[in-house]
Amino acid sequence: MLNKTYAFAFLLLYIASCASQDVEFTFNGFTGSSLMLDGVASIESNGLLRLTNNTSRKMGHAFYPSPVRFSSNTSSFSTTFVFAIIPEKSGIGGQGMAFVISPTNDLSMAMATEYLGLFNKSNEGKATNHIFAVEFDTIQNDEYEDKNNNHVGININSLTSNQSEFAGYYDDDLDSFQNLNLMSHKAMQVWVEYESEDKEIKITLSPVGKSKPKKPLLSYKFDLSVVLKNTMYIGFSSSTGSFPASHYILGWSFKLNGTAPSIDLSKLPELPRRNTKEWSKVLKIILPSAFAAFVLICVPIFIYMRRQFKYAELLEDWEVEFGPHRFSYKDLHQATNGFNEKELLGAGGFGRVYKGVLPVSKLEVAIKQVSRDSKQGMKQFVAEVVSIGRLRHRNLVQLFGYCRRRGELLLVYDYMPNGSLDQYLYSGHEKPNLNWIQRFKIIKGVAAGLLYLHEECEKVVIHRDIKASNVLLDSELNGRLGDFGLAILYDHGTEAEITNVSGTMGYLAPELTRTGKASPLTDVFAFGAFMLEVVCGRRPVEPGAQGDRIVLVDLVLEHWKQGSLVDIVDPQLRETYPMEEIEMVLKLSLLCSHPLPGGRPTMQQVMQYLEGGKPLPDLMVTSMNYGMLAVLQKEEFDSFVMSYSSQMMTSISTQSEGR
Ligand SMILES: *[C@@H]1O[C@H](CO)[C@@H](O)[C@H](O)[C@H]1NC(C)=O
Ligand SMILES: *[C@@H]1O[C@H](CO)[C@@H](O)[C@H](O)[C@H]1NC(C)=O
Ligand SMILES: *[C@@H]1O[C@H](CO)[C@@H](O)[C@H](O)[C@H]1NC(C)=O
Ligand SMILES: *[C@@H]1O[C@H](CO)[C@@H](O)[C@H](O)[C@H]1NC(C)=O
Ligand SMILES: *[C@@H]1O[C@H](CO)[C@@H](O)[C@H](O)[C@H]1NC(C)=O
Ligand SMILES: *[C@@H]1O[C@H](CO)[C@@H](O)[C@H](O)[C@H]1NC(C)=O
Repeated sequence: MLNKTYAFAFLLLYIASCASQDVEFTFNGFTGSSLMLDGVASIESNGLLRLTNNTSRKMGHAFYPSPVRFSSNTSSFSTTFVFAIIPEKSGIGGQGMAFVISPTNDLSMAMATEYLGLFNKSNEGKATNHIFAVEFDTIQNDEYEDKNNNHVGININSLTSNQSEFAGYYDDDLDSFQNLNLMSHKAMQVWVEYESEDKEIKITLSPVGKSKPKKPLLSYKFDLSVVLKNTMYIGFSSSTGSFPASHYILGWSFKLNGTAPSIDLSKLPELPRRNTKEWSKVLKIILPSAFAAFVLICVPIFIYMRRQFKYAELLEDWEVEFGPHRFSYKDLHQATNGFNEKELLGAGGFGRVYKGVLPVSKLEVAIKQVSRDSKQGMKQFVAEVVSIGRLRHRNLVQLFGYCRRRGELLLVYDYMPNGSLDQYLYSGHEKPNLNWIQRFKIIKGVAAGLLYLHEECEKVVIHRDIKASNVLLDSELNGRLGDFGLAILYDHGTEAEITNVSGTMGYLAPELTRTGKASPLTDVFAFGAFMLEVVCGRRPVEPGAQGDRIVLVDLVLEHWKQGSLVDIVDPQLRETYPMEEIEMVLKLSLLCSHPLPGGRPTMQQVMQYLEGGKPLPDLMVTSMNYGMLAVLQKEEFDSFVMSYSSQMMTSISTQSEGR
């Protein structure tokens, strides 16, 4: 009896001395352990320590029963444990769990959910907590600057981690970082080590069964003696939020002032298996949530990629100097509501034109899409666009700049509220009819703009696409030449390089198709066709009744010969026009439409004729026969022009010289 009492007392003494000296323990499963549990924590029959069960907004704690004497100059310690997190809804974390060193083993006043069972609203972040924790957090709380919903952090007195890292490990074999999913249902091993000499905390994570990675996930220089009291409790805390999850500890070992003994993994209790019932859960819950996750993750990525793709534009080094003239595709996309059909102003052979309002400046613009597949010549082309953008004239539509995309070029112009001239000439009653005074003003305006391009700019600018649909009307119905998509530039005194023949049929000077060389006089030719268009209210080439083509120049010549010019003039004009002026414009048009460039006046001369400063040369109408139809059918053209032109040339030049 006495012996027994003595032995018992000795045992007590022994246990007490152990607690005060270098504590060391190992749990390979928790069957029969005397851990102090609270909240929903429990030890399952197979020895699993379950910190939380599948109820939401609950917490659970498990502490080693005796306090650990860390001493005032906190001793080194090392601990390792195996844990697993099984969320009720796959991929949605409960809240998380933590290894904790606490001055008390009663954390019942702490709160569940984001407080992880460690703190409550009033003491979170306070130095008086004296709590050191390593969190395994599966919910992202922005309030506590969480990295994501799958991170490991070192927390001192606060839910805001002093240091944290995405869950994972540095694989020694692969020499790379491997991600781990804390909520993967899979067991993982953790090492928490503190070196009192270096004052460094190291956290290492790895899949269970893998040897401890050499490089820790987290290493944080910190003197724990600032936080820890002499005597502290060590254990685990966990909580669930709106979604429940089970947080399990399978095994645990600890050693003060030394390396924690290794856990015998073969002796660890098994985690609950996903049974057949759970397979139906897979179908019912996991699949839909996987789909939800897919939607949540992939859709933003998809949207992002689409945005990237949608707004993808080309920007090369050489464009830097054009900065002010370069628009971002995103802005243009925004300006036009995504190139909405409702914003479509027009569409033609060379592209579509949209109305837009630029995001910041609120400037109204017209955006023309020009398809240009070849990269070749783009640099020069853009340079020309920018040069044109620097031009200012009251009869030119301001070209603000451009934007480049793959196979596409966007030109940004000043928006002209009254639209293009062709709408007034051909749209029937949609637009008000223009009287002669208005039309003549437009013709003179366009001529002034063209003269500026040809002779008054720093470089010679050939527009190459003069026609009614490219003449826009400003608020005062002034004609403004727009659409410089085909324009080319070259130095005064030189010639344009040979280019692809571009333009619109009926406006193309015959020599263009032969030589491919644009010149101011090819523009003059097109201007002639344009003037006829404005006076007659007809297109330069129209389909005839027999499937043939009616060429306006020929028609005008015909009427002139027969003395019936009145009949070719736009019927809308008849009542009011001063015939002399109209006749002058018609004759000037014919002069500009001369098949040979030498037969055409320059824009300077055209201006003089239009302003009335210089009378037109007398054209010998009877001998004129342009045969423009032949011009359009090229093979017949060359011989015809050759035989005809000398005659015509002499007649004009002699007339002119006579004055
Ligand atoms: C969770 O644990 C608590 C406390 O042990 C218990 O009352 C509750 O019924 C458990 N819930 C479930 C779903 O197991
Ligand atoms: C929650 O736990 C209880 C008791 O362990 C179990 O009967 C129930 O099926 C669990 N519910 C879910 C959704 O896992
Ligand atoms: C918060 O926790 C501390 C320490 O456990 C406790 O003293 C305090 O009363 C708690 N406050 C609230 C509001 O629960
Ligand atoms: C880190 O820990 C110290 C404890 O001394 C604390 O005062 C500080 O606020 C923590 N820093 C962050 C970023 O949480
Ligand atoms: C604390 O302990 C470390 C290592 O044991 C030692 O290097 C250091 O000097 C000690 N500091 C104090 C203040 O005792
Ligand atoms: C830690 O261990 C070393 C030797 O391994 C010993 O000298 C030292 O006193 C120990 N410190 C404490 C606080 O037990």
